[in-house]
Amino acid sequence: MRTLFDADAMQRACAELRGQGRRIAFVPTMGALHEGHLSLLREGRRRGDVLVLSIFVNPTQFAPSEDLARYPRAEARDLEQARACGVDLAFLPSAAAMYPPGAQTFVEVRELGAVLCGKSRPGHFIGVATVVAKLFQVVGPQAALFGEKDFQQLAIIRRMVRDLHFPVEVVGMPIVRDPDGLALSSRNAYLSCEERQRAVAISRGLAAARALCASGEREAGRIVAATRAVLERDVTKIDYVELCDAESLGAIPRLEPGRPAVLAVAAFVGSTRLIDNTVILF
Ligand code: PAJ
Repeated sequence: MRTLFDADAMQRACAELRGQGRRIAFVPTMGALHEGHLSLLREGRRRGDVLVLSIFVNPTQFAPSEDLARYPRAEARDLEQARACGVDLAFLPSAAAMYPPGAQTFVEVRELGAVLCGKSRPGHFIGVATVVAKLFQVVGPQAALFGEKDFQQLAIIRRMVRDLHFPVEVVGMPIVRDPDGLALSSRNAYLSCEERQRAVAISRGLAAARALCASGEREAGRIVAATRAVLERDVTKIDYVELCDAESLGAIPRLEPGRPAVLAVAAFVGSTRLIDNTVILF
C-alpha cells in the first residue's frame, strides 16, 4: 500500500494506473475507520483492480460550532486496517492540499441539500459535494462507494455525478450496525456508556416503524409519531423524524405501493448528534 499526501502526486499516480487500463474503485472517508467503512473497502476490492481510500476530515462540511477540532483521528490504526482490506493507494491530504490558498469554488446540490440534515446544518452538504467533486477529480475512479447510513449524502452525490457528468458509478452500500442495532458511526466514540445504551432507541424507533408498516400502516403522520414515541423516552433531543420519497427526499403524506420511501432520523444523545434511516418499500 502506498500512502500519498500531495494532490498532484496522487492525481499523477491515479492517471498512470488508469493509463495501464486499470479500474479504480474509490472509498472516501474521514477516517476513524470502523466496520461500516471496511464493508465499503471490501466491496471496493471486488469492484476495482485498484482500491483507493481517502482519509480527510473535511473542514468545509463542519459549521464553526461543530466538532471539527475533536473529530476522532486514528491514522496509524486506519492505515493498518486499510492494508488488511487490500487498499493499494491511501490518500491523506492536508487541508491546504485540498483547498489551495484563495479557494473559492464550491458545489451546491440545491434542493437535495436543503432538506433533512441540510436544515439544521446549513452549508454542510456544500462542503460534502465540493470535497467529493475534488476527490473525484484527483482520483478519477470508475466506481465510488458510499454508505446508506448517510442516505441524504448518497442521494446528493448521485445527483452531483449526473449533473456534472462525472464518469463514475456510485455504489450505495447497506448500513452496518452493532449487534443491538445501533448504526456504526465514528461519532459513536463520543458517547459515554450510559449514552451508548440510550442511543439504541434510534434504531429501535426505526424498527418499530417498520413493524407498524408491515402490519399495514401507510400514513406518514402515524408512522412518524410511532417512531418519535420510541425515541422520546431515551434521546436528549429529536432534530427530525421524516418520511420521505427515497429519491427526491421530499416529505410524503403516505406510503405508496412500489414507491421506495425512507424514514430518516437525526437525534441528539447527550451532545452527540446521530443519524439513522431505513428504506421502506412494499
Ligand atoms: P465518513 O463519515 O467517514 O463516512 C465515509 C463513508 O462510510 C460514507 O460513505 C458513509 O456513509 C460510510 N459509512 C459510515 N458509517 C457507515 C455504516 N454504519 N454502514 C455503512 N456505511 C457507513 O461520509 C463521510 O465520511 C464524508 O462526508 C465524506 C463522504 C468522506 C466527505 O468528506
